[in-house]
Parts: sequence; C-alpha cells; structure tokens
Amino acid sequence: MQDFVFQNSTKLIFGKEKEQLVGQESVVFGKKVLLHYGGGSIKKTGLYDRVVQSLLEQGIEIFELTGVQPNPRVSLVREGIALCKEKSIDLILAVGGGSVIDSAKAIAAGVKYDGDVWDFFDGKAEVTDCLPIGVVLTIPAAGSETSEGTVITNGDGWYKRSTGHPTMRPKFAILNPILTYTLPAYQTACGITDMMAHILERYFTNEKSVELTDRLCEAALRTIINNAHTVLEDPTNYDARAEIMWSGTIAHNDLLGTGRIGDWGSHDIEHEISGIYDIAHGAGLAIVFPAWMKYVYKHDLNRFAQFANRVWDVEIDLNNLEKTALKGIEKTEAFFHSIGMPVRLTEANIGEEHLEQMAKKGTERGPLGNFVKLHENDVLQILKLAL
Ligand code: NZQ
Ligand code: ZN
Repeated sequence: MQDFVFQNSTKLIFGKEKEQLVGQESVVFGKKVLLHYGGGSIKKTGLYDRVVQSLLEQGIEIFELTGVQPNPRVSLVREGIALCKEKSIDLILAVGGGSVIDSAKAIAAGVKYDGDVWDFFDGKAEVTDCLPIGVVLTIPAAGSETSEGTVITNGDGWYKRSTGHPTMRPKFAILNPILTYTLPAYQTACGITDMMAHILERYFTNEKSVELTDRLCEAALRTIINNAHTVLEDPTNYDARAEIMWSGTIAHNDLLGTGRIGDWGSHDIEHEISGIYDIAHGAGLAIVFPAWMKYVYKHDLNRFAQFANRVWDVEIDLNNLEKTALKGIEKTEAFFHSIGMPVRLTEANIGEEHLEQMAKKGTERGPLGNFVKLHENDVLQILKLAL
C-alpha cells in the first residue's frame, strides 16, 4: 500500500428536503452569494424558488449567473469571474450537476488570480486559492460535489481540460435524492456510468497490496449495479435513488483511491471525445472504458479476473484466466448497453474523422494513464477498438 493523505473536508448534508438548509449553510461565508446554475431544469422543478427563499430568509443578497452548458465553457467562467470581482461575492452557490459545480470552481479560482483563468487548465499556472463554494446537487454523476477538481471546455480549439486544488473542494454539499427524480433516464444512466468509471479508474492499479480499497471499490460497484435498473424503471424509488446518489459521491471523494495509484487514461481519452463532439461525459465513458479494458487486460490478468469474479460473479477459470477476464469485460459492456448507453463511437454518431486528432491532442502533454502508459498510437488503437 502506498503512503497517502486523505482529507475530504466537504460537509455533506444528505436527505429529504435538505435544500431548505442552504441559506443557513451559505450565510456562514457572507451575505453576497452568486447563484450559479444551468439551462433551467431547477426552475422547472421548483428547486430554484426554494433555494432563493432559503437564501433570502438569511438576509443574503443574491446575484445570478445562469446558462452553464453540459461540458461547461470557459467563456461563461470568465463572465463569472468579472461578476464576482465587481460585486465582491462571498460564496458561489452551484445548484445543479457536475457542469455547474465545475464552472463554479473555475470561477472561484479565477477570482483569486490576476491572469486568464485558462492558464490553470493548460498548465501555465496553478490554483493557490479560491472563493468558497457551496453545492445543491441535482444529478449524481461527476462527484464534483466533494472533489477537488474541475473540468472546463475551451471553444478555442475545443480543448476539454482539468485542474484541481484542495481549496476547490466545496465547503458544503446538499444531497436530496428526491431532487434526482426529474432526471431523464439518459442522464441518470450517464451518471451511473460516470460513477462506475470513477471507481474503475481507481480499481485498475499496479499496487498489489490494496485489499481494503479493492473490496470497497467492489462493494460500491455492486451497489450501483444493483440499483441502476431500479432507478431507471422506477424513477421515484427513494431508496434506490439514495443508494445511487451516495454512491456517486463515494466513488469520487478520494476514499476509494487511498493507498493506490489510479489509472485515469479512459477519462482523459473521453475528455477528448466530449471536448470535440460535446457528448455527455458518461456516454463517452461507456464507449471508451470497454475499449480500454480490451486493450490493456493482458497487463494484469489476475486483477481483471478478480474484477470479473467479485463484481460480476463470473466463476474463475484457473486454467484460463484470460477467459474469465474477458467475460468480465463483456459483462461491463453489456451492462452499459442495458442501461441505454452507447458502447461504440458509431452509436453516438461519431466516425473516424477525428480519431488521429484526438489521439494527438490527448497525448501532447505526455502519455496517458498509469496502469498502462498510453502513447499516441495506443490511444488511437483504443479509439479504433471503440468504433
Ligand atoms: O442545465 P440543466 O437545465 O440543469 O440540465 C442538466 C443538464 O442538461 C440536467 N439535469 C441536472 N439535474 C437535473 C437535470 N435535469 C432534470 N432534473 C434534474 N434533477 O442534466 C444535464 C447534465 O448535467 P451535467 O451537470 O452536465 O451532468 P454531470 O453531473 O454528469 O456533469 C458532467 C460534467 O462533469 C465533468 C464532466 O467532464 C462533465 O463536463 N466531470 C467533473 C469531474 C469533477 N469535477 O470532479 C469529474 C468527472 O470525471 C467529470 O469529468
Ligand atoms: Zn468522470
């Protein structure tokens, strides 16, 4: 097991009607709040009204920045930074999913920096400080509600890049599973895929002695798999929604990565796809992950066979571990398909045109992944396997 520091300081408030606490959680940081949200789902569901009322009850002055798109853009982040500086904002409140939270994080970091915020994403500068961020989560998926990272897209070149810093972790995150009842099935499935991918990225490690985190990862994966079809068929099933919501946070709050080095190659490859094609991150992962698995499984047959056995109940064939490993990959791909995800680029209407460009862009700052280092040609082969 590797040495590690684990500190996840986000205060989590989980349960029914807990968004009513947003005013009292926010006022701790000051009286001027930037309310940041997406394309309007929170207005349709009535969440917006409840959040505003709770903020006003605490005497908070609200400024708004709306219109965050999935795969959030740096152009809106720049607007947010200017607004926060002009109004001396004390807290950015993100009400929505990973895109809104990531946009809030980038704004929060940009406010404390004199240069252009994109410097953080193309490696020219490092985040050192941030405005405080609060969250009311509406989609379990990205895990951004407790993560220290943010992923932003720059329309200039269609680069989707990430950065992170401990101060970017939200100060509080409110998770009410009922808020996820209104999610379209497709978004629910994208979220399920993303949280599974966050666990898989950590699971496929070269670290040998990581039994506890292996088993925690397997438990979280099994919980997600057990509840996925229930939330899709019965979207107002509170208990299943709650399991999925909590799993989404656990998948990416760093606990499951303790003592090990995760891979993250599939995420980086996916960011190239959603950066250019603007598809949902979860859908991109359903396409990339099985292809990545097929490309690298021989690197550690034991680990892939363990995964097949403990997560998918595939019987281990000691005479043919490769067969066991391949069965686990097949089951993973079939599961993504069964929840309505594309598992091939062509199913997402993506052809061969930009594969080489994606492989080149993705590796221009060095090889991807840790379990197996992926150079430009490896990425290209994985993308071809995903066609
Ligand atoms: O914009 P609105 O109208 O709110 O609609 C959203 C959006 O269209 C809708 N939605 C959200 N909650 C809803 C709802 N519709 C109905 N009812 C609700 N309760 O869902 C759509 C998708 O929202 P989005 O925020 O884009 O989804 P998600 O949470 O999956 O976030 C994806 C982004 O997170 C990044 C991804 O790359 C992607 O850009 N990630 C961030 C990470 C992080 N910061 O740690 C890690 C992840 O690996 C990921 O890369
Ligand atoms: Zn992800």
